[in-house]
Amino acid sequence: MPSNQYKIEVENVTKVFVERRKRSRNSAKNVPYGEENLVLNNISFNVEPGEFIMIIGHSGCGKSTLLNIISGFDIPSEGSVKVDGKKVTGPDASRMFIFQQNSLLPWLTVGQNIQSALKKRVDKNTLEEKMIEYLRMVDLQNFVNYYPHQISGGMGRLAELARALALDPEILFMDEPFAALDFMTRCLMREEMLNLMAIFKKTILFITHDIDEAIQLGDKVIIMSDRPSQIKKMFDLSGFAHPRDISTGELGQLRREAYLQMGVNPII
Ligand SMILES: Nc1ncnc2c1ncn2[C@@H]1O[C@H](COP(=O)(O)OP(=O)(O)OP(=O)(O)O)[C@@H](O)[C@H]1O
Ligand SMILES: [Mg+2]
Repeated sequence: MPSNQYKIEVENVTKVFVERRKRSRNSAKNVPYGEENLVLNNISFNVEPGEFIMIIGHSGCGKSTLLNIISGFDIPSEGSVKVDGKKVTGPDASRMFIFQQNSLLPWLTVGQNIQSALKKRVDKNTLEEKMIEYLRMVDLQNFVNYYPHQISGGMGRLAELARALALDPEILFMDEPFAALDFMTRCLMREEMLNLMAIFKKTILFITHDIDEAIQLGDKVIIMSDRPSQIKKMFDLSGFAHPRDISTGELGQLRREAYLQMGVNPII
């Protein structure tokens, strides 16, 4: 397949961090200055346009590092990343990040937050109307004049999603976006994600620690090994339509396998 049919190509990406401090980030023991920490070890995979990729792996295995490299915020020690066949050399407005913590601007209302994103590409006369349209998609149209601290954590995440979509990026990077939410809100957020993605069809790379979330949402699920990290397993779930029942059948079996791959017992 010619290179430009993939949205993202990750080719033999290796990342080594060099210890710049006397004390390790990972343990209490002192490490020699200059000690090398091999985090990503020859990672390769391709992402098709519009694909929803879930990445799971134990804490510290290098998931955020991998996303930082793909998005252009960091550089690989070896290997390369291409988007639309072009080598990534830095961040780009067509690639948006959503992190674990709320990053709405606290001095702006929910409506103003969305407008500040829309301003970059929407005509002034239609700004208000478009803003309401985006808020309606996440059912927040009645909270236009609320400030971020006046809405719940889940609503904040939805507003952030709406703002990210208002910027109309081609790729969305999501680093444990729902991790700080309670279980029930997280489940609701999964449904919202799927509804939005059915409309917007973005290419998404989504990090989670939640195996069920990965199996419920992903077209592909990448399981990373511990450091130095490699791709331990890739599940292709693109043949499973939504809504998915992950408790039984083939998906139930895949879910159990994913738990075991992560070293967790699926039956407790
Ligand atoms: N800027 C940096 N300088 C040095 N080491 C770093 C840097 N960023 C990350 N690391 C190291 O790289 C390893 C992977 O970190 P990373 O944040 O990518 O893990 P993660 O899989 O996202 O973990 P978590 O699930 O806890 O978020 C860790 O050992 C971390 O200490
Ligand atoms: Mg991380």
